[in-house]
Amino acid sequence: MLHATIIGTGSYVPSNVMTNEDLTKLVETSDEWIVSRTGIKERRISTGEKTSDLAYEAAYRALQSSGRKATDIDLIICATITPDYFMPSVACMVQGKLGAGRAAAYDLTAACTGFVFALVTAAQFIETGMYTNVLVIGADTNSKILDWKDRSTCVLFGDGAGAVVLSASEEKKGIIAADLTSDGSKHSILVSPAVPLSNPYIQDEIESFNPSIRMQGQEVFKFAVRIVLENIEAVLKKADLKAEDIKYIVPHQANRRIIEHVAKCSGIPLEKFYINLDRYGNTSSGTIGIALVEMLQDNMLQPGDKIIMVGFGGGMTSGAVLLEWN
Ligand code: COA
Repeated sequence: MLHATIIGTGSYVPSNVMTNEDLTKLVETSDEWIVSRTGIKERRISTGEKTSDLAYEAAYRALQSSGRKATDIDLIICATITPDYFMPSVACMVQGKLGAGRAAAYDLTAACTGFVFALVTAAQFIETGMYTNVLVIGADTNSKILDWKDRSTCVLFGDGAGAVVLSASEEKKGIIAADLTSDGSKHSILVSPAVPLSNPYIQDEIESFNPSIRMQGQEVFKFAVRIVLENIEAVLKKADLKAEDIKYIVPHQANRRIIEHVAKCSGIPLEKFYINLDRYGNTSSGTIGIALVEMLQDNMLQPGDKIIMVGFGGGMTSGAVLLEWN
């Protein structure tokens, strides 16, 4: 059987840093409130770069580190909720800019779980033998769908992108187990509206159109804590492993308190959870790829290490991937 292994990683964030102090000039908030409720100290906010720009930079770096050429890539999947256009997809824009031959390219929408959904989707193409090299990107410019007057949401998010190149291997390593779940009955607790219906028969909704994120924070918090525990347990069970066998958990970076709750309830030491949300906030699809790059830079991942990447987000969606590093 073929297995999907990560052979390259890359990330990119805009250079512009927005601190909690900067936010106090926009909304009634404080560094103390944001840090104590979320753990976030600063985030990167685009001053002009679009999602496709962030995605391209992360993808280019992942390709460089993989040692593959752009023309070796068979498929590009970009997870995003903030594409430059409805059409073309961000993935197609990246495909063209990279010069990735005739690689298939499309976007995938699973909000902050997008990177995990995209990884698992890519792995299916590899495991069935259809494709050998797949580029997976998670990229978002959340700053364009934030209401900068709403203190309950604008302090949480940032812009950024992460990418990996997955490649087929005959050895049993790489992605070992995955668990993807959705609960559409909760879709209204985390929403960013799309363009409303407007045609010769209906016009009125366009007046109130506002794509800004609306969120029931505490409901999202409760969902996240419960589902992340479920997803971690599910992949451990599928892989017939125990929490002690796992070197690191790479969680979606939304709120430090969510991660602390998960650590406490799972009995997995907090030190095993990689956390960098203090510097980037929640970059949606970007978080896990950005974390992987930093972990590699810090020499935290060695061949044979088993890690779990786990995310949750709008939809509501959630999912985990258990992977053996190679
Ligand atoms: N600065 C200061 N005060 C703020 C604030 C801010 N940025 N945002 C909200 N508040 C206020 C509220 O208005 C409220 O005031 P009140 O008590 O006078 O009404 C108070 O703080 C408490 O608000 P509440 O919403 O109960 O806070 P909380 O402890 O639930 O924390 C979140 C809010 C958003 C940090 C938390 O619910 C959360 O992180 N949820 C998950 C969100 C998430 O992860 N989303 C992304 C998913 S991918």
